[in-house]
Amino acid sequence: MRYERTHDCGTLTAKAIGKRVLLAGWVHRRRDHGGLIFIDLRDRFGVTQIVFHPETDAALHERAGALRSEWVIAVEGEVVSRGPGMSNPKLSTGEIEVNVTHMRLLSEAKTPPFSICDESLNVGEELRLKYRYLDIRRGKVSRALEVRHQAMLAARNFLDQQNFLEITTPVLGKSTPEGARDYLVPSRVYPGNFFALPQSPQLFKQILMISGMDRYFQIATCFRDEDLRADRQPEFSQIDIEMSFGRPETLFPIIEQMMDAIFQKCLDRGLQTPFRHLTYAEAIEAYGTDKPDLRFEMPLVRIDALAARSEFSVFKEQLALGGVIKGLCVKGGASASRKKIEEYTSFVGKQGAKGLAWIKIQPEGPTSSIVKFFDPDLLSEIVHTMNGEAGDLLLFVASDATTTNSALDHLRRHIAHEMELIEEDSFALAWITDFPLFTWDAESDNFACEHHPFTSPHAEDLALLDSDPLQVRSSSYDLVLNGYELGSGSQRIHDSDLQEKIFGLLKLSKATIEERFGFFTEALRYGTPPHLGIALGLDRLIMILTGAKSLREVIAFPKTQRATDLMTEAPSAVMQEQLTELKIHVELPE
Ligand code: AMO
Ligand code: AMP
Repeated sequence: MRYERTHDCGTLTAKAIGKRVLLAGWVHRRRDHGGLIFIDLRDRFGVTQIVFHPETDAALHERAGALRSEWVIAVEGEVVSRGPGMSNPKLSTGEIEVNVTHMRLLSEAKTPPFSICDESLNVGEELRLKYRYLDIRRGKVSRALEVRHQAMLAARNFLDQQNFLEITTPVLGKSTPEGARDYLVPSRVYPGNFFALPQSPQLFKQILMISGMDRYFQIATCFRDEDLRADRQPEFSQIDIEMSFGRPETLFPIIEQMMDAIFQKCLDRGLQTPFRHLTYAEAIEAYGTDKPDLRFEMPLVRIDALAARSEFSVFKEQLALGGVIKGLCVKGGASASRKKIEEYTSFVGKQGAKGLAWIKIQPEGPTSSIVKFFDPDLLSEIVHTMNGEAGDLLLFVASDATTTNSALDHLRRHIAHEMELIEEDSFALAWITDFPLFTWDAESDNFACEHHPFTSPHAEDLALLDSDPLQVRSSSYDLVLNGYELGSGSQRIHDSDLQEKIFGLLKLSKATIEERFGFFTEALRYGTPPHLGIALGLDRLIMILTGAKSLREVIAFPKTQRATDLMTEAPSAVMQEQLTELKIHVELPE
């Protein structure tokens, strides 16, 4: 018997009744009913019920009785109606079944280490990753891979229409400065020399602009040896984009339309454009973070000036130390118990806040452990500033700006989840602009780039490069989605003198610049168009689109939190001959 299918397991409907068909797939579930053997036959496209009748062919019926879960078979038979009351409206093929007349066993299967047919079963992640091929069969990951495919297709089609060319850049290259550790690949031909896997195609895409390619994109694999989290993988993909002769105002609508095309293709819904814009300073002030979750409001409100007029020593001491006092207004939160407030207090404690002051706005007036330090007028001014009404709970943190912002950012998101303030399936996209060009890096006691050293300073702030570099804003932007940094980009420096000045501020010596980026600074001198670009994290996008909790759910073969692949057991030792050939001597710590 052949096994080339006439149909896949997801397509047969009542229209096919009476047809002879050939299906192939995995034994998903088996039920024996008074002599009849029912099997759900599964492939990527769906599940079709097939039936073995003892009277059709006794030998065939006996062979069917021996089938076990996950065996691979091909069957031939006739499509029939399931009969009144027997159809399954949850399945696209739920109206029909196939009466089998022939079967070929294509492959037996060992008993899987976890159930494939029960998707709701909670299986430990280590086991899922070790047997990833079985895990993918269960459906959740394969559906995410479909969304991923749709998203890539939508992005490619859209960018193609906008005259962007997909150009492959090298994987074996030189270290790029995205700020993480490199993965290195030893060179056999030049012992002691190494390639670095790209942390991003940053320099190549800029050089493609110098090459006159005008508009580039690539679905690029990037490698970063950094501390991993749910939203970070050592190997991940970017929708990487660069264009010439543009400004952020030119790029934003392109990215917004691309995102709209992706949402249309993957979720069958559009996005409201243009996206919201917030400067970095505004985002930090109102949400305490540069990647605010804007699916709900509950902004942070600063009350420094009002707090200064109180008698509350905690607030006054913080102000004297140069700290800030900010609060949140939790709508309808005044019914919070003492225990709940204690829980919030220890929650912000984990972010370094020494305490959490609170005011409940009761119908009879504000109550709190600290009301006594505020005269009634001041108190009502605070309530008014915080947009508070009867029934609300006001929560305050006094600390240095970083701690206050971080504590209230975490608390704001915690409360929103707890009080279910976030509408399901809602997506809030925003541009965050005007990041500082530099941050201060205490470890190296010098400036460090907030983005990367090829980011252009804001034109208005150029003079500050000499007088006060930390005040210089950059022409950079992040795209934020539901509290995640989805993408990041900037207008680039296209002037080699300015580029050298930035390298100088980073205290890179002439020799280091020459050694690390010499090829690039040289290229900048051969006629460089103004250019800019962005990279969107593809894995993060799919994670958010599918509502997954981790990037591991949307990558076919992901790494664990400890950067290993449990299926292939990479990384692993290599043969001594390979090391000898590479002139590598390994010395392991005791
Ligand atoms: P950046 O380093 O901000 O910028 O990266 C861009 C986007 O890539 C995603 N991303 C990651 N996703 C998963 N795992 C990781 N370890 C990881 N690291 C980053 C994020 C992030 O927003 N070359 C610049 C872009 C440019 O200037 O054009 C760059 O790579 O979603
Ligand atoms: P105390 O005077 O330490 O008893 O604190 C009185 C109230 O102020 C308590 O509710 C504390 O949680 C709160 N509190 C203490 N330190 C801070 C702080 N740094 N920021 C906000 N509230 C604080």
